[in-house]
Amino acid sequence: SIAYLNGQFLPIEEAKVPALDRGFLFGDGVYEVVPVYAGKLFRFKQHIERLENSLRSIRLPLEQTLQNWADICHQLIKSNRLDNATIYLQITRGAYPERNHDFPSNPTPTIFAMISPLPEIQPQPSKEDLQGISAITAEDIRWQRCDIKAITLLANCLLKQQALECGANDTILVRNGVALEATSSNLFMVRDGVIITPPLSEHLLSGVTRDFVLWLAEQHGILTEQRSVPEHELLQADEIWLTSSTKEIRPVTRLNDVIIGDGTAGPVWRQMYDHYQQLKA
Ligand code: PDD
Repeated sequence: SIAYLNGQFLPIEEAKVPALDRGFLFGDGVYEVVPVYAGKLFRFKQHIERLENSLRSIRLPLEQTLQNWADICHQLIKSNRLDNATIYLQITRGAYPERNHDFPSNPTPTIFAMISPLPEIQPQPSKEDLQGISAITAEDIRWQRCDIKAITLLANCLLKQQALECGANDTILVRNGVALEATSSNLFMVRDGVIITPPLSEHLLSGVTRDFVLWLAEQHGILTEQRSVPEHELLQADEIWLTSSTKEIRPVTRLNDVIIGDGTAGPVWRQMYDHYQQLKA
């Protein structure tokens, strides 16, 4: 596929970054994942705003406008002839002659972007969708700034792998007895018809999909609540969902071997699935 690196479009195998890049040495960078549906960037402004927040949080100045980002993304869509895809954007603090923790005085960031195909989501949920996924809970071993979309994802990878080794699909992270999000998605639960999600804080990522789901629910008169979710309450939920730009809304039907609801995707999920597909089109 054709990727983008520092102003150039080139075959991804030829996109090479120096070993002294601070992304490689320190994990000093941030990223974004943007979905593309039917050739259109979905919620693009929100993704770029979050990227700008991440850059500001790590104090990496970058002169790149929304239009610059859009041009890169549209070129990737065109060159790779992909209509349903996800675009990955990454910025690191760049490469310097030696390994040194101090910030360089004149940073030359490394800007990278690539595109990958996304299976087209059908207007009707598949059998697999309805079956849902299984999750475990585990202590959140990540740092204290999970609101930054940083490329340092070692803890997320360890926690995800832990789920796979337990025969589950993902891990819901818990800090001080409170459930926050999963390894690469936000957390929702439904109780008595109310959609509940943990409030924004430095312990979780402000998901663009999370925001969209809350907005969609409000549009359709479904009650929503942003409040803390104790781990034990999750086990009593009528429905649990994980949301992200690549997964959309995914039902969790088994948590720590406890069946959630009736063990299949619930009625509120089914409604939200339809609303989501309608607005994507
Ligand atoms: N992950 N929480 C975490 C820790 C995430 O990594 C993500 C996204 C989300 C959901 O955010 P959004 O709805 O804006 O995609 C929540 C991306 C998809 C990834 O790492 O691949």
